[in-house]
Amino acid sequence: MSLTTFLAELDGLIQELEKDLDKASSISQLEEVRIRYLSRKGRLAEVMKGLPKLAPEERPEAGRKANEIKEKLSSLWEAKKRFFEQKEKEERLRDFDPTLPGRIPPVGTLHPITLVIEEVSAIFTSLGFEVVLGPEVETDFYNFEALNIPPEHPARDMQDSLYITDKTLLRTHTSPLQVRTMLAKKPPVAAIAPGKVYRRDSDLTHSPMFHQIEGFLVDKKVTMADLRGTLTLFLHRVFGSETRVRFRPSFFPFTEPSAEVDISCVMCGGKGKVAGKTCRVCKETGWVEILGCGMIDPAVFKMVNYDPEEYSGFAFGLGVERIAMLKYSIGDLRIFFDNNLRFLKQFV
Ligand code: PHE
Repeated sequence: MSLTTFLAELDGLIQELEKDLDKASSISQLEEVRIRYLSRKGRLAEVMKGLPKLAPEERPEAGRKANEIKEKLSSLWEAKKRFFEQKEKEERLRDFDPTLPGRIPPVGTLHPITLVIEEVSAIFTSLGFEVVLGPEVETDFYNFEALNIPPEHPARDMQDSLYITDKTLLRTHTSPLQVRTMLAKKPPVAAIAPGKVYRRDSDLTHSPMFHQIEGFLVDKKVTMADLRGTLTLFLHRVFGSETRVRFRPSFFPFTEPSAEVDISCVMCGGKGKVAGKTCRVCKETGWVEILGCGMIDPAVFKMVNYDPEEYSGFAFGLGVERIAMLKYSIGDLRIFFDNNLRFLKQFV
């Protein structure tokens, strides 16, 4: 083979490649062209087989030319590839509508129990109460003894309380916070204590864990009228000012006198009937029980070294789930603890 033929064959590859590149109409066809010309068994490699057949003095020039052609072939091919890529990008952009709204990431909502705790806390802090917190694993002293609940009292029964050891249990109410707070502060004190409480109970309206909010106020000359005024204002804010509030005598070991508070039924407005049928919320009585309260028993004051001759105070405890059920018309308590997003997302 002569040098002239070799060089002509190399030059010929350029035109051939250009023709094939023109015909290629997709990325995959373009890849076929690359294999046909530039792979180890491609056209260029084939022509290169002629190199050793040239005279030794011709080889340097032939080699240089071969490299030049190789570069040229590659760059022609690369240019076509960029052209395809650009075209593809333009097509993608043509289908892209920049005026479409972005995807909104899912945002969580507050649990209805949290909402009620926040609302109640806001009402009481606006009245000057502070928020205090305490442990859920409580000692017998704070949960019972200091609250004037003697060892034989039925509230201590293993049936109701969840004991950890002889002397420690999961608190059965938030009332231990009365004792903890009063031991830590001198009067006047006004505080609320929201949190989880535990009892061995489970059905449609009872859950072994639920939430309470304790409230108490101690100062000189605090009377039952203060208790009544404070709770009435609070209940009007939560359920609306048309709501009627009724105090019924009751008993708690740590308050004397004690009362239970009812409000006119939120479902039937106190009429006892909804569309001629028995109201399922108040069972036709027109009232629903909402909290327990009373004047703090002097026996409790003695336990925390407050002088019952000098100070008096009131306390109350309310069930958060109960308020949430009435406020949002929820019939089954268990739905609060099911973690069902379709339920939870309704509360914003
Ligand atoms: N601790 C009582 C309960 O759990 C409620 C209560 C609190 C009653 C404060 C009176 C005063 O039932």
